[in-house]
Parts: sequence; structure tokens; C-alpha cells
Amino acid sequence: MIIGVPKELKQDEYRVAMTPAGVRELTSAGHVVRVEQGAGEGSSIPDSEYVATGAKIIPDADEVWAGSDMVLKVKEPVEEEYRRLSLRSGQVLFTYLHLAASRECTDALVAAGNVAIAYETVRLPDSSLPLLTPMSEVAGRMAPIVASHHLMRPGGGRGSLVCGVPGVEAAKIVILGAGVAGMAAATLAVGLHASVYVLDKNLERLRQVDHHFRGALETIASSAHAIEEQCADADIVIGAVLVVGARAPRLVSDDLVARMRPGSVLVDISVDQGGCFESTRPTTHSDPTYMVHGSVFYCVSNMPGAVPHSSTYALANATLPYTLELADRGWQDAVRLDRSLAEGVNVVRGKVTCEPVADANGLAYTPLADLL
Ligand SMILES: NC(=O)c1ccc[n+]([C@@H]2O[C@H](COP(=O)([O-])OP(=O)(O)OC[C@H]3O[C@@H](n4cnc5c(N)ncnc54)[C@H](O)[C@@H]3O)[C@@H](O)[C@H]2O)c1
Repeated sequence: MIIGVPKELKQDEYRVAMTPAGVRELTSAGHVVRVEQGAGEGSSIPDSEYVATGAKIIPDADEVWAGSDMVLKVKEPVEEEYRRLSLRSGQVLFTYLHLAASRECTDALVAAGNVAIAYETVRLPDSSLPLLTPMSEVAGRMAPIVASHHLMRPGGGRGSLVCGVPGVEAAKIVILGAGVAGMAAATLAVGLHASVYVLDKNLERLRQVDHHFRGALETIASSAHAIEEQCADADIVIGAVLVVGARAPRLVSDDLVARMRPGSVLVDISVDQGGCFESTRPTTHSDPTYMVHGSVFYCVSNMPGAVPHSSTYALANATLPYTLELADRGWQDAVRLDRSLAEGVNVVRGKVTCEPVADANGLAYTPLADLL
């Protein structure tokens, strides 16, 4: 199979869909990988590294799309790319799509008549989302790092060193949610020698956290009362909750923030689901924070965008096994054999095969089985 990797065009997107290691795996299996010139630059991967593992560098984006059986991307196609979707019939597009949020992109894929497989709807039998997990891990691990920076005076915070010093207490970090992002945040927070408190509604989850950290942090059953009690004297609060398919619950009111220490820092990782603090509003890496009642709010909705090199490798490590399945077997056999991958199929030859996407856009739903 011929696989194309174009450069991402979305604003502030520096990731790329494949690493040189992925190129090597695919070319060793007999496939051809065509990478657009400069596609890896934003992730600090020069063309020469792709060439060294067997890729062909293609100077022109149209040529990448027109000459590939499967196109691998990171983000959904942007308007400029819509006309490229129909340059090659029967093409498979494998990328993050988030079609429930974009009628325009859904229409473009329906009109193109190709096969669109979305990273974010690939789902394992335990309901986890293996191609979203790496980005929650990145955002979770970043949260205590950015919060520690903003806790310092030049970062707008109260001027505390997160780990303390001999004779001076360490910062108190409260983490709301003990899922993928919350666990990743806890790992870093413990590593920074902070005093760490993790809250979740799911007691089984808290048992696992307790077992994993063996006394290095406190676990607390989440309730409005517990959140108020823990946040009131926290230096850092990290919001990492998720209720699947719903807006994030508002857990930290403005009134509570007003009672927190001036200069405390609140990082809302859940901002992309509406945020779990009352005054959360999305911010960008170029202007990441704002003040609420004397506390610093950091609410960047694409945290992994700050570390494209790490994010590219984390994402590509997770997507590569599925890419290999698709390339080795062709999409139809691959999804017949792998139900998780089948859940990723969103659009096939003009039909929407993902029910939530069809519902969200008011379009007809066609079960994938009818088209295989
Ligand atoms: N800002 C970014 O750049 C970025 C990047 C990646 C992920 N995210 C977001 O981070 C959030 C967390 O993702 P995840 O993968 O860790 O989800 P997850 O499903 O693994 O974990 C969510 C946890 O929240 C807990 N929870 C739900 N309601 C709660 C409540 N009221 N009190 C306490 N805990 C509660 C759940 O029990 C679960 O353990 C999501 O909204 C995701 O979209 C943001």
C-alpha cells in the first residue's frame, strides 16, 4: 500500500502523523511511505530522518494526496484540504476528525466519497479510547509543570517553590479526577515532592491510585464538601474530570476560588469539555492565563501543542499498530477482524457510519456492517 503523510495545515498544529520508526515498520512490511517535505519540522524531525528509514520525500501536498492509498494525518482536514479529499478515489483517511463538532468537515468527507477513520472513536472492549489516551497523558504530565511555573512570582502566582525547601513546606496540589490525565498529573506532582491529594467519584479508581502510589499521596472520595475542603488551602488545583459524552461538571465555583489563597494556580485540563471551574474559558499557548479573584487560571485547550515532539511520538506509538493493520489487510478486512478499529470508521463512500456523528449533524446513519 502507498501511505501518504502530509504536513498539517491547521493553525498552531506542529505535530505530524508518523515518526521515522513508523516509516521503518511500514517499509519493512513492503509498503511505500511518502512524506510531504517539511512535514516533521514542527516536531523537530528533519526530512533526512524519514529518508534514513525508507520514506520518499514529496515536495507537493497535492502529489502526496493524489498518489496515496491511505493518508495519515493528525487533525481533521481544514478547508484548504477539502478539494484534496477527492484526488484519489477509494482513499482511506486515518486521523483525528471530531466530526460531531463540524458539519462542514462531515459534508466534505461525505462529498469526497472516501473512507474516513477517526482516531478518537477507536474504542477497546473496556470502553477506553486508545488513541485519545496519549494526549491525556501528555496534558496530565504537563499540568503540574505549568502550574509550578505559574506558582512562582514571575508566573503570576504567590511565589512558592512547589517542592518546598528544608524547613519550608511543599505546595499542596489537589487533582480532581483520577483517570488518565489525573493519574499522569499525580505521577508528576509526586515526583515534584508536592503534597498531593487526588479526588474521584469512582472508589474503585481511588483504590487503584492508592495501591499504585503506596502512600505517596492521599485519595479522597469526591463530593462538593470534600472539594471545598481540599481546595480552600490548596496552592494548585488541577481539573481532570470527564463524564463521557457530557459537558464537564462544574466542581469549583467562583465563590470557592474567592476563598482560596491569593496567587494559587488552577489548571483546567477539562477545558475542552467546557471546563470544571465556574470561570473557565479556553486560552492559548501565546496567552495561557488570566486572573480570577486573585488566582491564576491556566485553561489551554490544546496543551499537547506546546510539546509537539513528545506528542507526535506519543500519538504515533499508539496509532502505528492500527496503521499497520490497515496497510497489511486493506481497510475492509482490517475492520472485520478488529472491532475496536471498526468503531473508528466514521464515513464510507458518502454514508455516515458512526451514529453519534450522524445524530449530531442531523444526517442519516448507515451501520458499517451494511457496507462491508
Ligand atoms: N486541555 C487539553 O489539552 C487536553 C488534552 C487531553 C485531554 N483533555 C481532557 O482531559 C479530560 C480528562 O481526560 P481523561 O482521559 O483523563 O478522562 P478519564 O475518563 O480517563 O478520567 C476522568 C475521571 O474523572 C472522574 N470524574 C468524573 N466526574 C467526577 C467528579 N464529579 N468528581 C471527581 N471525579 C470525577 C471519573 O471517575 C474518571 O476517573 C477530558 O475532558 C479530556 O478531553 C484535555
